[in-house]
Amino acid sequence: MSDTLTFLGLESSCDDTAAAIVQKTPDGARILASVVAGQTALHAPFGGVVPEIAARAHAEKLDTCVEEAMALAGLGFADLDGIAVTAGPGLIGGVMSGVMCAKGIAAGAGLPLVGVNHLAGHALTPRLTDGLRFPYLMLLVSGGHCQFLIAHSPDEFSRLGGTIDDAPGEAFDKTAKLLNLPQPGGPSVEAEASLGNPKAFRFPRPLLDRPGCDMSFSGLKTALLRARDEVVAAHGGLPRAIRSDMCASFQAAICDTLAEKSRRALAQYLEASPSQPAFAVAGGVAANRAIRAALETVSAEFGTTFVAPPLALCTDNAAMIAFAGIERYSRGEQDDMALSARPRWPLDKKAPALLGSGKKGAKA
Ligand code: KG4
Ligand code: ZN
Repeated sequence: MSDTLTFLGLESSCDDTAAAIVQKTPDGARILASVVAGQTALHAPFGGVVPEIAARAHAEKLDTCVEEAMALAGLGFADLDGIAVTAGPGLIGGVMSGVMCAKGIAAGAGLPLVGVNHLAGHALTPRLTDGLRFPYLMLLVSGGHCQFLIAHSPDEFSRLGGTIDDAPGEAFDKTAKLLNLPQPGGPSVEAEASLGNPKAFRFPRPLLDRPGCDMSFSGLKTALLRARDEVVAAHGGLPRAIRSDMCASFQAAICDTLAEKSRRALAQYLEASPSQPAFAVAGGVAANRAIRAALETVSAEFGTTFVAPPLALCTDNAAMIAFAGIERYSRGEQDDMALSARPRWPLDKKAPALLGSGKKGAKA
């Protein structure tokens, strides 16, 4: 096997269609091109991701994303060593669109095909961006997921705990909906929070009174709904300043919960791997500056290295999929035309299924 590997990656598991080219050399990995076509405007009228609309949009956009990525990298299919594609978990129609597209290119260009777990793509991102060595503790926090994992190898993860209901990204999205802010909720709630007082409302920090790393975020939206209704009843509407206070207080509740659970996960992780003190965060919610800062502080308390990927590599992208594909392929793993799309695909095969469901449905 050559010591330089160049892979095309495809991502279509939720509401972003993406294609990217990543090259790995003995000196590290480089993103040669990364194209993301979001679907926010298509789903906006419905207040959430509509699976059928997403699948159709992926099928329409995948070809052009691939063409654009190849052109940006200045490469042809003959220059590639393989093609990686998200094969799950996610919205099944979208995942199928990506898998079919990848199979077509692999068959047409005679390239190896590697199916990638979307969550592994997020969880391996600190290796793409910072060359982080195994093992490390990972907090994967997105619109559909929230879990603490120990990453042992590209396909070996142990879960220390996770959300038992909503994922934080989902809580941000629902908060935005309740407060009439645009979707996706994360960036809009974060912007509004920067104008408010995080101590104005005291929202719950669930499960902090219980040991372990499990989390719960569904009670937050109920508390927020109640607070909003009280404000509307008292003021005849929702004054802008109070809305900012609500966003800031909501974000503070998420920060505190993630920070405290990270302390517990780090203590557990460091007990098992004291010689490799590393903590990394990934997934769309890791784009939140207040959350990154809170986790960085916790990391400093424990004297561990902290890795948070650049914002564009926190949210869904195909560079992480191309890279995860290279990692699998380098270990002699690949798929064939029997590769199928999986709506559920837990990273830790031994851990019991999480009850939580995200916007992509219960699956891990
Ligand atoms: O990883 P991702 O792109 O897709 C999933 O796999 O879920 O994450 C998307 C989620 C959305 O719920 C979005 O609201 C949230 O990440 N998000 C944020 C921020 N940017 C995106 N949440 C909080 N603050 C942000 N700045
Ligand atoms: Zn994701």
